[in-house]
Amino acid sequence: MTPIDYQNAVKTLQKYAYHYYVLDDPIATDEEYDVLYHKVVAYENAHPNEIIDDSPTQRVGDTVLDGFEKAAHESRMWSLEDVFDAQELLAWAARIAKYSDRLAYYVEPKFDGASLNLLYEGGRLVRAITRGDGVVGEDVTQNARTIASIPLSIPYDGRIEIRGEVVIFKKEFDRINEERAQKGEATFANARNAAAGSLRQLDSRITASRNLVFMPYGVGVNTLAQTLLSARMGEVVSWGFRAAPMAKLCATIQEVQTHYEAMLAKRDDFAMLLDGMVVKIDSIEAQEDMGYTVKVPRWAVAYKFPAIEKVTRLVEVRLQVGRTGAVTPVAIVEPTDIEGVTVERATLHNFDEIGRLDLRLGDSVIILRSGDVIPKIVKVLHERRDGTQTLIERPTHCPVCGSLLLDEGILLKCQNIACEARAVNAIIYFASKPCMNIDGLGDKIVEQLYRAGMVHTIDDLYSLTTEHLLTLEGFKSKKAQNLIDALEASKGCACWRFINALGIEHIGEVSSKLLCERFGLAFIDATHEEVLAIDGFGEEMAHSFVEFVRLNRGRIEALLTTIAPTHSAKSVATEGAFSGKTVVLTGTMSRPRDEIKSLLEAQGAKIASSVSKKTDYVIYGDEAGSKYDKAVELGVATLTEEEMQALL
Ligand code: IVH
Repeated sequence: MTPIDYQNAVKTLQKYAYHYYVLDDPIATDEEYDVLYHKVVAYENAHPNEIIDDSPTQRVGDTVLDGFEKAAHESRMWSLEDVFDAQELLAWAARIAKYSDRLAYYVEPKFDGASLNLLYEGGRLVRAITRGDGVVGEDVTQNARTIASIPLSIPYDGRIEIRGEVVIFKKEFDRINEERAQKGEATFANARNAAAGSLRQLDSRITASRNLVFMPYGVGVNTLAQTLLSARMGEVVSWGFRAAPMAKLCATIQEVQTHYEAMLAKRDDFAMLLDGMVVKIDSIEAQEDMGYTVKVPRWAVAYKFPAIEKVTRLVEVRLQVGRTGAVTPVAIVEPTDIEGVTVERATLHNFDEIGRLDLRLGDSVIILRSGDVIPKIVKVLHERRDGTQTLIERPTHCPVCGSLLLDEGILLKCQNIACEARAVNAIIYFASKPCMNIDGLGDKIVEQLYRAGMVHTIDDLYSLTTEHLLTLEGFKSKKAQNLIDALEASKGCACWRFINALGIEHIGEVSSKLLCERFGLAFIDATHEEVLAIDGFGEEMAHSFVEFVRLNRGRIEALLTTIAPTHSAKSVATEGAFSGKTVVLTGTMSRPRDEIKSLLEAQGAKIASSVSKKTDYVIYGDEAGSKYDKAVELGVATLTEEEMQALL
């Protein structure tokens, strides 16, 4: 590598990283990145004097500090006044209306993390300070350098502070907690704590391993020429920072309210936690006129989202037996309202979690609800104990069938395959969305069918008749017919759904798809060696699958005859016409949309909902509308259903 090659390689790595970490739109594979990265490391080892200081290799955390130095912000970091409803928002707008009557509002999400102030001088990141008390914080520069969405250099010579929130994506938070739980370490109560804790690590290697993300929301000292906040943020983003999702310029306070409702509705779709929306006056001049109170700017407010954390009390721990016999504790809490939903139950994962949380009956606890995820207990308020709390005992017998439990440490298992809970849950799983996707066959109905003695195993489902169902409470002819129709419609499903629905330990949706790709309907004859040879399959999975099929062969064959799952003969991932293609479906087709979707997905296609230049095919049915027009406009290939069939 020549010095020029080295400099170019650094630039290329920076570009790859920018697309990956800032734009969420990778332009290179991990492997390409790694190969080039290693070449750069080799060059830098051989020529330590030539190391470019914003080379991606300089992000690797390798410093361990004894403590953090205090450091002052160049200009104060403010907090925000909160408003909680439309009325309070209007009152705020009315208060500032005296400064000017036609002001635009710049709104963006309020990120729930830890605030961080970055100082750039001569285009280089020179310091990163936590918020602290707003005047003085802690110098965490070496940690900030490990955050990939913080540029080490920017194309701006002036002195500037860039403020933002360091967050952890929800997925990453779950990954970290899972890892910690496995190691027996205390889990983080929420993503905010995890972000703050990760930013304040003395060992920056730990920070580096947490995949923190920086979301800029403002500037401190600066010499920017732009007179609008929105324009300033646009400029900052153009230097290589992430853009705030759903940021918007609103002309009226009504528009702000509408956007708030839109953002709240999308809250769960965001990669990171949001605790509200921040409303700011766009004009910097107007901001300066309005000024600050002792704590907060008058020109901005935080319009909070309803809390998703609440304090309640643990009343009981109930035991639940899953389809594999795993016994999990469920917390029953005093009913409490979170975002308009009454919460009475929370997951506890397993019995070790009870120990880790040091949870007792009668304890005050903080529960967290996010989206449609089951609420969980994130913290026990030990200081609120009054002596009435009692220990939670580890069960020794199955709460449903009474047989002795197998205690595997983290996992407690009912070993009795005839246990009612196992049977019922296996049927519920069979019917669920990622499996056979049978509408109208949820928990309650399955329990009812089981109790009535009509369905004991999944094999019984397909012998049900409307006459049977009409004898059950709550079943009128329409409901009965719908269920029979849904069962009928599940016949001929994609082969992977069938495999997934069998509920084989260690075999989920992805492995089921891989098995189908490799063997099609002949999965039943696959040998241990053949299964093991599939990329991603380990010994445990292969063993579990082959053993399950061996033990249940007769039943599987009978089910295959009844359900007749389908599989197209071509190898899914590599040779099919649709393999790796992005496809959009529009208009009315001869078969249900989901069916066509599964068929294409089984061929390795990716189904998208809107047409863009990246779309490979638009498959259209009757009365196709704007998506078809867009395809024609963009020159994207269009296919009728018959043409699609021919290609399949
Ligand atoms: S603006 C002068 N914008 O919320 C304006 N803050 O409660 C000061 N935060 O300390 C802050 N997202 O850590 C602003 N889009 C956003 C924000 C945001 C999160 C945090 C920030 C601040 C705290 C105030």
